[in-house]
Amino acid sequence: MFAGVARHYDFLNHFLSLGTDILWRRATANTLAVDLARPESVVADLCCGTGDLSLALARRSAGQVVGVDFCHPMLARAREKSAGLPRLAFVEADALRLPFADDRFDAVAVAFGFRNLANYRHGLAEMYRILKPGGTVALLEFSRVRSAVIGPLFRFYFRRILPRLGGWISGDAASYRYLPDSVERFPDQDALVRLMQATGFINVRYRNLSWGVAALHVGSKPR
Ligand SMILES: C[S@@+](CC[C@H](N)C(=O)[O-])C[C@H]1O[C@@H](n2cnc3c(N)ncnc32)[C@H](O)[C@@H]1O
Repeated sequence: MFAGVARHYDFLNHFLSLGTDILWRRATANTLAVDLARPESVVADLCCGTGDLSLALARRSAGQVVGVDFCHPMLARAREKSAGLPRLAFVEADALRLPFADDRFDAVAVAFGFRNLANYRHGLAEMYRILKPGGTVALLEFSRVRSAVIGPLFRFYFRRILPRLGGWISGDAASYRYLPDSVERFPDQDALVRLMQATGFINVRYRNLSWGVAALHVGSKPR
């Protein structure tokens, strides 16, 4: 599915969110500022797609950033966009079976990728495994808008308008119907906190972005 939309992916992200996705990824990178500032740090961006979060992380990083995705056409675009940026590498791999040793990364970030994993518990367990003790996980994902005013407006846009626009521009209607369907099936803010805690993460908390259209969940692997 992602191979099919790779060519239009960045344009549609920015167009359909009116550029807000850029601010959300920036907020995610800012959350990891302390880890990124250390020259010896190694930070993974899982399900990195065309690399927008990897780039935001690399621009703030004094250490290494590794973007990981299993979709070759998405990674090819990420590599094109990051040409010339030192300390940023991409690896083609499955987030459910990462080719990294235990306790390898200072931080792991995921933007709009976690929801697509076939098994959330397994995905979180892999993140936990590759994090160093004391390391941070930051998950940026679509979530639930609770506002009685904004909620219905957003849901109308997300279910009725966005799939039509996305399908029309990309030529792939099914992928843009998948987006609202997958968000509806995805755990809400509190359920995701519980899933992260059940994996073993501590100090788990979240911050709603744009009234909860997206939420940024953060947690730590105990020392
Ligand atoms: C919605 S895109 C998000 C891309 C990027 N992180 C962003 O912020 O725009 C989801 C990405 O997750 C990747 N993905 C889904 N399941 C994966 C898995 N099991 N392993 C690696 N990548 C995966 C897809 O290939 C796709 O590039």
